[in-house]
Amino acid sequence: MVTPTPRVGPATLNERQLRATATTLGGAGWAPWAPAKGLRCINCGALQDLDTVIYRCPECGDLLDVVYPRPTLTVEQLRRRWRRRRGSLRPIDRSGVWRYRELLPFWRRLSELVTYPEGDTPLLDAPRSAAYAGVGRLRFKHLGFSPTGSFKDYGMATGVTQARRLGMRAVACASTGNTSASLAAYASRAGLLAIVLVPEGQISFGKLSQALDFGALTLQLRGDFDDAQSLLMEIAPQLGIYILNSVNPFRLEGQKSVILELLEQCDWQAPDRIVVPGGNLGNSSSYGKALRELDDLGLLDKRPHITIVQAEGAAPLYRYFHDHPDRMVSVHPRTLATAIKIGSPVSWKKARRAVDWSDGWCTEVDEQAIADAKAVIGSDGIGCEPASATTLAGIRRLIHEGTDVPVQPDEDVVAILTGNQLKDPEYTVRYHNGDLWEEFTTQTHVVSHGRQLQCSFANPPLVVDATADALRRAIEPRLRELR
Ligand code: F0G
Repeated sequence: MVTPTPRVGPATLNERQLRATATTLGGAGWAPWAPAKGLRCINCGALQDLDTVIYRCPECGDLLDVVYPRPTLTVEQLRRRWRRRRGSLRPIDRSGVWRYRELLPFWRRLSELVTYPEGDTPLLDAPRSAAYAGVGRLRFKHLGFSPTGSFKDYGMATGVTQARRLGMRAVACASTGNTSASLAAYASRAGLLAIVLVPEGQISFGKLSQALDFGALTLQLRGDFDDAQSLLMEIAPQLGIYILNSVNPFRLEGQKSVILELLEQCDWQAPDRIVVPGGNLGNSSSYGKALRELDDLGLLDKRPHITIVQAEGAAPLYRYFHDHPDRMVSVHPRTLATAIKIGSPVSWKKARRAVDWSDGWCTEVDEQAIADAKAVIGSDGIGCEPASATTLAGIRRLIHEGTDVPVQPDEDVVAILTGNQLKDPEYTVRYHNGDLWEEFTTQTHVVSHGRQLQCSFANPPLVVDATADALRRAIEPRLRELR
C-alpha cells in the first residue's frame, strides 16, 4: 500500500494547457478525455492534480470529474481483456469494478486497489413488471446483489482506494443508510476509520445495523441528510478526514462500471433506455460519464436515454426540468423511500449533463405508485428496496400518462435496482399487511402519519391454528386456482 502525504488545496500544474479542454454541461462540448490525468472542473475546465484532497473546483466552486487521456487500446482489445478477466481467480480481475480498470486509471500500482470484490450483479428478466409498465421488454440490473446490498459498493471500491493512496486514515460520509453501510465495510477491510452521519430515526434498521456491525463511528444527527452533508463538508477539511459522498468524483468512477457490466451482459447491444432512481444524483451522473466515454471509444452502438425517477416529495431535479430550468431549488424532502429522501442533491449539474447528452428525462412518482411497483417487482420473484421501485413506477407513468417526454412501448428498457429487499423489510411487511402510511416529517422527526396507502397487490400472511385441518383449509383454495 502507498501512503504519500496528502496534499490539501489546489495544484497549479499545466493549467493553461489543460484549460484548453474545458467542458460544457452536456451537448457536443463535453470532452470525455484530457491530455493528462487530473481533476477537471465541469464548469470552468480548470484542472487540478489528481492526488489533491479537494471536492470542488478551487476557482469557481463547481463539481469535479476525474479525467484521463484517451485509452490507446482498440475496442476489440478492451473487450477481449475484460472478457478474459472474468475467468481469472484474482480478486481484482473478478471485481466488477477493477475488471474494467483501463477506464479507471487513476492508480499507479495494482497493489493499491481495494476490492471486496464487488460487482457481478445479475441482469434479470421481469415479464410481470414489463406488463405492468406497458413496455415490451424490461430487465432489471440488480445492484442489490452487491456485498453490502447496494450499488454503493461499486463506488466505494474506487473511493476507498483513493483514500488509501492519499494516505488518509479516516473516511466519512453523510448518508440515508446505504453509503454508510458500504463505507463502513470497505473502510474496515482497508484498515481505515469510518465516520458516518445519518439522520436520526430516518434510516432503515437494516442499514443502521450494518454500520454498527462494521465498526463505524455512527453519528445519528438531529437533522436531515442535507444538514449532514453540508456539516460534513464544513468540518472534514479541519479534521483531516476524507469525504466519500458522491461529491467525491472518485466514488463516481467506480459506479461507471455498472454500465460496463451491463453492456457486457447485453453483448454490447445497448438498451434503448436506462432508468435509475435519483437521490443525491451521483449514480445517474456516473452513468452519463461512462456512456460518454464508451461512446467516444466506439463501444456504444446507440445512446441509451438516461431516465431519472424521483419520489414526488423529494424531487428537486424533476422540478428543475419541469418548472424552472433556470435554477435548482432545494425542497424539504418527504418520502417513505428513505434512501432517496434528499432535498438538495449535490450532483444535479452532472445529472443534468447526463440527461441532456443522452436525450433522457426525469420524472417523479408518488408514494402509492412506489409501493405498488415494489410489490409488482416482488411478484417477478425480485426483491428490492422502495427507492429502487421508483424505476418501475416511473416507466409506467411515462408510458401510461404520456407526461413529459414519451417512452415508446416497444423500447428495450433496463431499470436499475439499487438496493436489496432486506435493507428495509418493515416497509414490505407493512405493505402486505395493509398498514403502510405516508409520513409527515419535520427536519428531524416523523411527526404524524398522513394518508394510508392502498395495498392493491398485498399478499398478506394468514394466521392459522396448529392443526392439519386448518392448514388444509388455508392451502386448498390456492391449489384450486392452479387448475
Ligand atoms: N437507491 C438507493 C437504494 C440509495 O441508497 C440511493 C442513495 C439512491 C437510490 C439514489 O442514488 O444518490 O446516486 O442519486 N443513497 C445515498 C445514501 C444517498 O446515503 O445511501 P443517488
